[in-house]
Amino acid sequence: MKNERGVLFGVDYYPEQWERSLWKSDFRRMREMGFRSVRMMEFAWALLEPAPGRFDFSLFDEAIALAASNGLSVVLGTPTASFPAWLYKKDPGMVQIHPSGVYRDFGTRRQACYNSTTYRRAASKIVDALARRYGKHPAVIGWQIDNEIGHEGSDRCVCPNCAGAWVSWLKNKYRKIQSLNSEWGTVFWGTCYDRFDQVPVPRKQISSMQSPGLALDYDRFCSDSAVAFVDMQMKILRRHIRKGQWVTTNLYPTPHYPVIDMERLCRNMEMVAFDNYPVWGDQDEPLPYYFTAYILSYIRGLNDRGRYAVFEQFSGFQGHTCLGYLPPDKQVTLWTNQAIAHGADHIYYFRWRTAPFGQEQLCYGLFDPDGAPTSRSAAIAENMSAHREAFERFADQGVRSTACVVYDKDNSRVIKEQYLSKGIYLTPTPYMQVGYDLELARHFVPYSLFNVNADVKSAQSVDLSRYKIVSLPLYQMADPEFVGRLGEWVREGGTLVLGWRAGARDLKNHAAGAQLPGIFTDMAGLRIKRFESLNAGKVGIRVGMIPAKSEVWAEILEPVTAKPIAWYRDLRKHYSGAPCVTANEYGKGRVYYFGTSPGPLAVFLLFRKILKRAGLRPRFKGMGVEVVSRTTEEGTRMDVVLNHTAGHRWYGLRRIEPYGVRFIERK
Ligand code: GAL
Repeated sequence: MKNERGVLFGVDYYPEQWERSLWKSDFRRMREMGFRSVRMMEFAWALLEPAPGRFDFSLFDEAIALAASNGLSVVLGTPTASFPAWLYKKDPGMVQIHPSGVYRDFGTRRQACYNSTTYRRAASKIVDALARRYGKHPAVIGWQIDNEIGHEGSDRCVCPNCAGAWVSWLKNKYRKIQSLNSEWGTVFWGTCYDRFDQVPVPRKQISSMQSPGLALDYDRFCSDSAVAFVDMQMKILRRHIRKGQWVTTNLYPTPHYPVIDMERLCRNMEMVAFDNYPVWGDQDEPLPYYFTAYILSYIRGLNDRGRYAVFEQFSGFQGHTCLGYLPPDKQVTLWTNQAIAHGADHIYYFRWRTAPFGQEQLCYGLFDPDGAPTSRSAAIAENMSAHREAFERFADQGVRSTACVVYDKDNSRVIKEQYLSKGIYLTPTPYMQVGYDLELARHFVPYSLFNVNADVKSAQSVDLSRYKIVSLPLYQMADPEFVGRLGEWVREGGTLVLGWRAGARDLKNHAAGAQLPGIFTDMAGLRIKRFESLNAGKVGIRVGMIPAKSEVWAEILEPVTAKPIAWYRDLRKHYSGAPCVTANEYGKGRVYYFGTSPGPLAVFLLFRKILKRAGLRPRFKGMGVEVVSRTTEEGTRMDVVLNHTAGHRWYGLRRIEPYGVRFIERK
């Protein structure tokens, strides 16, 4: 992958945006600052193919050669996230139509439909030409397919191309229309279909909605369309590239806002890459550090390398139309160190110099448009050199975790539409609904708080035998096969933390035929008769005798074999006194059931005990202090201690500077 130990540092560079006269000094400066690689080309289709079938590689031939002669390796992005004007002219029907009815126009990006034949054909041609041209180039170390597949709401399209492909997808899945009717329950509202071509694409409605069955299948169809597009590019690349060049694509926050199954998307890639922006656009505050930790752990979990790459690491200040929080330089470097602590072994900063023109005039890179030295670029260079040796000690070893938060893509899709509680409805932009991530991150918090390394894995790929404790939030549509595996693992001594609504549905998304928690009833040792949604409100609870709060959802638990460990305690509620969290002995292990989402104090009180009981060592070092344990090349333990606060913090007798990092080795 990398030719060197530790972390490969690079920058995102756009030679096409600058006079050739600047390239040489830019590459020289990069090398002097400690960078060893550049990523380029991901939006350059129009320059590479100025007319249909006429390729012009001169600009990139020169830029790549110059980068190489300055000791920089190169990563190339296939430039399909935007396309030339001539292609659009040929077939204006190649652009996406968002479910809201909005047409995407030429001049923006990510506007092509994955099911447009015009686009797919043209994309294969340019990718083929690039793979032939640079697939054997000694300086080119890898490829990024497209750019942020599915981002900015481009994961769902309802254009005529998609409407046609949707019908074929349905035929292929169901074969008989009766099967579709019964799976979706189309008898409801009399929407029974006689033929597949009667099934509409789900456009946004003024009111009322499509069947949840249709919505879920459409999300799966959109995911398959994106995956097929990426696979098509991968096949072409693999035909021509030399051994040693890797293929990846860059994902973006947050894990479950796109409907695309990223695990499937990345399954044939050597690496997973991510664009790490803890603050972007008009955000007044950066994401909480444990939320970023959750996202990074998810990215790491998309394959089994135990590591990943960051292709766009925040350096300056970012936004398209509106800006927000300006982090101090030390916080910028802290975010790099956090990404590395969680397993990043490639870091490319976005971007070298801020473009004076164009759609990203407000995307500040290491330098302003004038290229003059900046304090942030100095801080980044100093951070790379100060910690290079420490990074070399552990960055090539995978992160090892004893805990895991498990997700399920279909369950995340269901929550997008039918979100149950306003407490998990969050739309930072009109095309995002990240409530599922909010609840998953909440389940990640205890591990962050008590500094227990945790992975984030899908129900399909998780290897339970690696973990002592597993959290499974919002697992409504329950797969009996996975539940069976969980049961065996708990019986053998595992600790399972189930979140509310576990087992409420089957794999068709039909309500469970049994009382809740359905298929989990025995394992959890309880019954649930009633529940309420707390929406934006909170409810009083008690953990032992200590009053605390919980939020989002409230299930009234009726223990059978389980023992309550927290209760509702709220005079406004008729169910005050009923248990809200229970523990059930199951074989040699235990199943905790959370009928509600505990607030910060309740998380602290409950998990301090739960983690100890599960055989882990909770280490609370204060809010804002994050410790990730890594293994060095020699097999010793290295604690990476990150101070996410603006004040000094202590780790034992060691003082950690504001936004500072310490590497503490345990022999
Ligand atoms: C990313 C994208 C980049 C650039 C950047 C701006 O989402 O991949 O091309 O737009 O954001 O912050």
